Amino acid sequence: MISIVLLGTGNVAKHLFNAFGRIREVNILQVLGRDEDHLSYFKEKVATASDFTKIMDSDIYIIAVSDDAISKVAPFLQQKKGLVAHTSGSVPLKSLGRQKSRGVFYPLQSFSEGRTIDFKKVPICIEAEDKNDLALLKKLAQFLSLEVHEISSDQRKSLHLAAVFVNNFTNYLFTIGHNICKDNNLPFSILTPLIKETVNKLDYLPPDDAQTGPAKRNDAKTMERHINQLNNKNYQDIYSLLSKLIGEKYGQKL
Ligand SMILES: NC(=O)c1ccc[n+]([C@@H]2O[C@H](COP(=O)([O-])OP(=O)(O)OC[C@H]3O[C@@H](n4cnc5c(N)ncnc54)[C@H](OP(=O)(O)O)[C@@H]3O)[C@@H](O)[C@H]2O)c1
Repeated sequence: MISIVLLGTGNVAKHLFNAFGRIREVNILQVLGRDEDHLSYFKEKVATASDFTKIMDSDIYIIAVSDDAISKVAPFLQQKKGLVAHTSGSVPLKSLGRQKSRGVFYPLQSFSEGRTIDFKKVPICIEAEDKNDLALLKKLAQFLSLEVHEISSDQRKSLHLAAVFVNNFTNYLFTIGHNICKDNNLPFSILTPLIKETVNKLDYLPPDDAQTGPAKRNDAKTMERHINQLNNKNYQDIYSLLSKLIGEKYGQKL
């Protein structure tokens, strides 16, 4: 049985709490958060505390707070014997400070309130300096997921950067599409089969080979019409820059 104390009450803390709650070999002892209201989600189910000097002893402490708060929360765990791991994609392991055992337990997925995630398919990126700590994190991660990866702090930094492009920026482009549909009385749902196929085909085609559209074909008149249709200068700039890059990549002169 692996015991866990969870620090944080946000999206990741809630998702991990629920996922670990379904694993017989894992016992969540306590959840800590600085805000009593945000702790209320956990109160009926587990011991909670808002005082970070009252942390229970445990095998693993998972710090699931905002990136900038990790180094503020970690010192409360300095005297603890267990392994201290944070869940961030972009914060180096060393930011945990002078812990005896330090690690990272980064679930590479976008967690939002109210969405149920199948953790079996979530890649969990683990890192630790000591091989026993790494083995413990691996064991814990494998209870949740079929995809566990040992990733260094440098690799994780790049992985997080790539994730921002494929997830956060793509989602912003969906927002632009959504706005264009709304302004023209079209349901956004009409685009979802296209979005899903764009993503699904990545299972068998690299993105380089999957590119289609007017910029790749160098349909200059279509692109010009699209830019004129946009009444937002920033959207025009995004359209022009992406089209230029696609054109250059596929050897078209725009
Ligand atoms: N969301 C994702 O999709 C995702 C995916 C993978 C990894 N992560 C990583 O997981 C971590 C948590 O992300 P999240 O999405 O769960 O964030 P979140 O929903 O915004 O929750 C942030 C948590 O941090 C706490 N916090 C902020 N400043 C604090 C401080 N100074 N002292 C103590 N607690 C503080 C907040 O407490 P209050 O409620 O009191 O403000 C809240 O419990 C981050 O490192 C993030 O990079 C996120």
